[in-house]
Amino acid sequence: MRKIVINGGKPLSGQVAVSGAKNSVVALIPAIILADDIVTLDGVPAISDVDSLIEIMEIMGAKVKRDGETLEIDPRGVENKPMPYGKINSLRASYYFYGSLLGRFGEAVVGLPGGCDLGPRPIDLHLKAFEAMGAKVSYEGDNMRLSTGGKAVHGTQIFFDTVTVGATINTMIAAAKAEGRTIIENAAREPEIIDVATLLNNMGAHIRGAGTDIITIEGVKTLHGTRHQVIPDRIEAGSYIAMAAAVGEGIKVTNVLYEHLESFIAKLDEMGVRMTVEEDAIFVEKQEKLKAVSIKTAPYPGFATDLQQPLTPLLLKAEGRATITDTIYEKRVNHVPEMARMGANISTVGGRIVYEGPNDLTGAPVKATDLRAGAALVTAGLMAKGRTEITNIEFILRGYSNIIEKLKALGADIELIEE
Ligand code: EPU
Repeated sequence: MRKIVINGGKPLSGQVAVSGAKNSVVALIPAIILADDIVTLDGVPAISDVDSLIEIMEIMGAKVKRDGETLEIDPRGVENKPMPYGKINSLRASYYFYGSLLGRFGEAVVGLPGGCDLGPRPIDLHLKAFEAMGAKVSYEGDNMRLSTGGKAVHGTQIFFDTVTVGATINTMIAAAKAEGRTIIENAAREPEIIDVATLLNNMGAHIRGAGTDIITIEGVKTLHGTRHQVIPDRIEAGSYIAMAAAVGEGIKVTNVLYEHLESFIAKLDEMGVRMTVEEDAIFVEKQEKLKAVSIKTAPYPGFATDLQQPLTPLLLKAEGRATITDTIYEKRVNHVPEMARMGANISTVGGRIVYEGPNDLTGAPVKATDLRAGAALVTAGLMAKGRTEITNIEFILRGYSNIIEKLKALGADIELIEE
């Protein structure tokens, strides 16, 4: 068993660099299956979700070379065969193989995706889009088969009645080589969608409107190789900014695109967090008094659900009573009982999180029940007096590149222990 042990209460300072975006790269890698030549990604984070995707790509027949943050993928040898079930169902983003295999072979046989338990996470809208593009969906034991009988999918018009990042990206991937034009209405607008569209366009696709709620894809016959820089991870950036405000005595978070974090920064401003926005960095000062604020998550450019949990420890330092409402994942409250174990005045009432501060946290044994809850526990552990032991850390390592090394460099007393 592996755990993270933190001796908290130490002030941190210095500089921390944000890595490439997890939720981008987990779509970029499967999308490369559509290319007829080598695609190179720069800025690939050292996270276990990437390790899993590389393993899957290799099992499927791709040749992969990884050198630090650079990943070179030659997808020409990829075969149309059922995907490795155990690997597929361990990560949510495996659903992007549906779109890429369907786009390349007109068929995909894949297990149902796994991922963090944030309550129900259906994939009905992905399937609705594939069906509208001519694919038939059938089930074979633990696997699902999507098939057009080997033909290219065809263009169509899709309206998503819920704004969905995954289904928007998956439809773009499948439609890149479709016969004709696909129009996605009420598309999600997250920066990761623009990043995937940029890669596909640099591979020769014709995608317009990514980043708006109408995306048009003119299908092309072939896609070629390219080189692409992954955008910075806005959720990792927000996590470090919140942590810097909670325990920092002057921390510069670098490789940050401020434009991707406006709603988050606006909330920090409302709390009274003192920081300076630089060209591609944010400097967070040592904080004095902070004010409690209410948070309501929403699709981009609203306040990101993925930042609600990492911000919670900082909220606990603020004075007053307020609420957090997650409109994307109502059950994304796994961090609440763990924070309460550390002495926080926080609870869930009628689907909302209610907290009252300021709180002094005490180190305790806690469990990372999902990725962002895990990030919250790391910050809480750094804030707390005494020793915090976090178990289930596999979740944290899925999405935070070199987190132990980055925090140690800021002066944290943190260790990953194997038992
Ligand atoms: N939804 C449906 N049907 C679908 C798809 C989604 O009802 O077919 C619902 C979901 O249940 C949810 C809402 O639509 O209530 C939005 O879900 P979305 O599809 O946008 O989520 P996702 O694509 O599965 C990605 C990120 C999540 C992030 C959400 C929301 C990846 C791999 N995951 O998930 O990231 O929380 O968008 O922004 O990109 C994380 O990084 O910790 C994480 C969970």
